[in-house]
Amino acid sequence: MVNDFISGLPEAFPESYECTWKSPSNIALVKYWGKREGQIPANPSISFTLDHCATTTTVKFKAKPDKGFDFQLLLEGSPQPSFHPKIGKFLERIASYMPFLESYSMDINTSNSFPHSSGIASSASGMSALALCLMSLEKFLFPEMDDAYFWRKASFLARLGSGSACRSLEGPLVSWGEHRNIPVSSDLYGTPYRGGMHPVFSGYQDTILLVDKGQKQVSSTVGHGLMHGHPFADARFSQAHHNLDELMKVLTAGDQDGFIRIVESEALTLHAMMMSSQPYFILMKPNTLEIINRIWKFREENTSKLCFTLDAGANVHLLYPASEKEEVLKFIEAELVGYCEHGQYICDRVGTGAKQL
Ligand code: DP6
Repeated sequence: MVNDFISGLPEAFPESYECTWKSPSNIALVKYWGKREGQIPANPSISFTLDHCATTTTVKFKAKPDKGFDFQLLLEGSPQPSFHPKIGKFLERIASYMPFLESYSMDINTSNSFPHSSGIASSASGMSALALCLMSLEKFLFPEMDDAYFWRKASFLARLGSGSACRSLEGPLVSWGEHRNIPVSSDLYGTPYRGGMHPVFSGYQDTILLVDKGQKQVSSTVGHGLMHGHPFADARFSQAHHNLDELMKVLTAGDQDGFIRIVESEALTLHAMMMSSQPYFILMKPNTLEIINRIWKFREENTSKLCFTLDAGANVHLLYPASEKEEVLKFIEAELVGYCEHGQYICDRVGTGAKQL
C-alpha cells in the first residue's frame, strides 16, 4: 500500500545531518518497457545488480526555518543545472511521503565510477543513491525504523525517480513488478530475488562495450510512453511474465543455454518494440549488429556460454560465467574492440548492492 510509505513529522528538526551512499547500476535480464501513471511498470522485470559501475552521493542536510525544496547539485565537483528539473520533479513526487524534507536544504554531491558521457545511464544508480541518502535522514529522525522498511521505502522512492532505479539497491538479482510466482513481488518497489540461484550465475561477468557514447536520440521515458497504444503491447507484457517464469527455472537449474535464449530474446524484443512503435526508431548502430553476429559465431565455434543483452541504446552488455573470463577478454580484444568508440569497454560483474560509506 502506498500509504505505508507516508512518514510523520519529527518532534524536533536536528540542525544538520550528512551521509554518503554508493549505489550500483543494474542490467535487466527481463526488461521493463512500458509504464502506467505513477511509475507503475506494465510488466515485471528482473536484473543483475552490478558491482563497479556505481554512483556515490553525499547529501548535507541543513535545517531551515521556511518550507519548500532547496537543493544544490554538484556532479564530479561542478554545478550541473541540466539535472535540476529531474531532481526537482523527483522531490515533488516524493514530497507527501517525506513531509520533513521541505524543512531542510540539501547539498547534493554526486560522482560516477564510469566515465561521464559513456552512454551508460546513471539514472538507476544515481536515483538509488539519492533515495538511500533521503532514507538515512528519515532513519536519523525516526531511529526506531526497522531495516526491512528502510530498504523497501528506499526502493519505493528510487522508483519514483526512475523505474529501473528501484532495482539498484540490493543484489545479486532484484525483481520489480507483480508476478504470480514471486510471492513478495510488488509494482511499488524492487525486492531481492529469493527463488534460488545456481552458483554458476553468482560470478557472472558483464563487460559493457561502448559502441556509442553520445546522448540517446530517444529517452527511456519517451520510449515507455510509446508502449501506450502499441500494436504488440499486450503480447509483449504477457511474454515478459512468461519469460520471468522460464528464467526462474533456468536460474535454479543453472541452465546456461536457457539463460542465453531468454536474455538475448528479451534484448531483441525490447528493440523490436522501439522499431514497431509510432513514431518508430532504431537505437542499435551498425556496430551493435556486428558485435551480435560475432558473438553468435564465437558461440558456434566454441563451447562458450557468452551472450549479450542491450539497454535502450547501442552499447552491448556481454554476460558470461567467471570461468570464461580469460577467453572472452581475448575474444573482445581480438574481434570486438574495433567496434567500440575509441576502443572503450568497461569490465563489471554481478554485485551485492548499495553500501553506506
Ligand atoms: C531499457 O528506468 O530508465 O533499461 O522509469 O522512465 O526512468 P524511467 O525509465 P528507465 O527505463 C529503463 C528501461 C530499460 C530496461 C530495464 O532496465 O528494465
